[in-house]
Amino acid sequence: MTTLHLSDGIIKDEILVVGLSHKKLARDGKVNLVIESGDIALDSKKLLPILADMGATGKSDEVIKVPGVTTRLLVFTGLGEQKTVLDDEVLRRAAGAASRALCGNASATFSLPAKKVSSLEAIAEGVLLGAYVFNKFRVDSLAQRNPSLKSVTIHSKQAGSAGAKDAIKRASIIGQYTALTRDLINTPPSHLNPDSFCKEFTNLVKKVGGAAAGLKISVMNESQLKSKGYGGITAVGQGSANPPRLLHISYRPVKAKARKTYAYVGKGITFDSGGLALKPAAGMEAMKSDMSGAAAVCAATIAIAMMKLPVAIDCYAPLAENMVSDNATRPSDIITMYGGKTIEVLNPDAEGRLVLGDALVKAQENKSLDGIVDVATLTGAQVVALGTRTAAIMTNNQDFSHHFFAISKTAGEAFWPMPLPVELRASLDSPVADMANIGERMGGMLVAGLFLKEFISPELPWLHLDIAGPAYNEGEPYGYTPVGGTGMALRSLVALAQSAAIS
Ligand code: BES
Ligand code: MN
Ligand code: ZN
Repeated sequence: MTTLHLSDGIIKDEILVVGLSHKKLARDGKVNLVIESGDIALDSKKLLPILADMGATGKSDEVIKVPGVTTRLLVFTGLGEQKTVLDDEVLRRAAGAASRALCGNASATFSLPAKKVSSLEAIAEGVLLGAYVFNKFRVDSLAQRNPSLKSVTIHSKQAGSAGAKDAIKRASIIGQYTALTRDLINTPPSHLNPDSFCKEFTNLVKKVGGAAAGLKISVMNESQLKSKGYGGITAVGQGSANPPRLLHISYRPVKAKARKTYAYVGKGITFDSGGLALKPAAGMEAMKSDMSGAAAVCAATIAIAMMKLPVAIDCYAPLAENMVSDNATRPSDIITMYGGKTIEVLNPDAEGRLVLGDALVKAQENKSLDGIVDVATLTGAQVVALGTRTAAIMTNNQDFSHHFFAISKTAGEAFWPMPLPVELRASLDSPVADMANIGERMGGMLVAGLFLKEFISPELPWLHLDIAGPAYNEGEPYGYTPVGGTGMALRSLVALAQSAAIS
């Protein structure tokens, strides 16, 4: 991973990255560019005509490289319209777009306008997130020869302050665990199944200190799940040669009192073929990403432990591979979930809610929870409703939802609140069991949310985050977001724990 440094001294790198914004568009359509190089003075008079010649616009996601004078290369990254104080997310994206465009180089210095420590932190995050590459399975190709920046220096007058140093430390943790989340999402089912997912985190927990870091991990295997009555997880996993698991990571602050206790539960379908409701071949490969929720909650929990935040986290990842076989769950099968509810499985492709129902009930055995958050690539309807870049929040508690919404915004993650309309609940009624696993097609994201709500005790503040669209980028890279796994939800989950620590 890229290592970060802070400096307020002379620039030692051969590449200098600065910002480029534009003034409000004049009526004649002329672009009025502004160089925003933070605490470093540049010769705007000389540079602006060159930038104009090159057709620069200063728009977000524009990266322009020109030969430097004191450095080999001078890189301008677009900041959009000029503002006295730029939004942290604008800086995060601009830093990310530049570090992504600099893959193949060894090092660079970034000097962007950062007036607050939070802006410095956002720039550092953007650098790390944008530098991400997934080359694990490339043996001989151009990309393999184009590794991410090894070292980045962030230039700022604040460099010497303790606040700035802490910000860089936090950003490094976010960068590291977002990369882990993305790696897991990008790893195909040939190399990632419920068992290997658990092993990955078992090794990681050990590596980062285990109990000394406040972390404990436990795994339930298929026979344990069966004997304890986890009918949802086992029904989804029974069609696969790779048996299901329930992973539990607990974090308790070391020598500090937990200010809040949260359960984080993430959908962990390591591949979703649709089961006997087999998905069409076109696009099925993207279903290697159906464990994005599990990866995000587990990695976030480790990140929270590494930041030593004074909160307690109970993290659960119900893991299964949804496959087709003579042993796969059939439409019409009735299963008994953990806790006793019976479900008529009308569609084996609505499997996420089955594994989550079990895990949500299990998580609520901890009676000191202040809140429970589930994260899932749950429905195609989520993508239809909000597109590929915005995720949904559903809740039984408006205050919790508002709090999370505000926090996700500062973390730079796009969430949007969605309702759980009571009238849709009846569509989940089954003539033969307590509930069916599918209901009304219209508003399918909300119906899935209402299904999960049945597993939540009404007094417990709960958030259901459907990240089906934003978890996996099948389009072009942008800002700090690469193609493939994005790490969606991790930053907000960490920020929620941070907010509990200060409230
Ligand atoms: N994993 C999918 C949802 C999904 C779709 C995630 C597209 C990411 C991108 C989920 O298990 C699923 O198949 N949902 C069904 C539910 C339906 C059968 C009620 C869907 O959305 O079609
Ligand atoms: Mn499915
Ligand atoms: Zn799924």
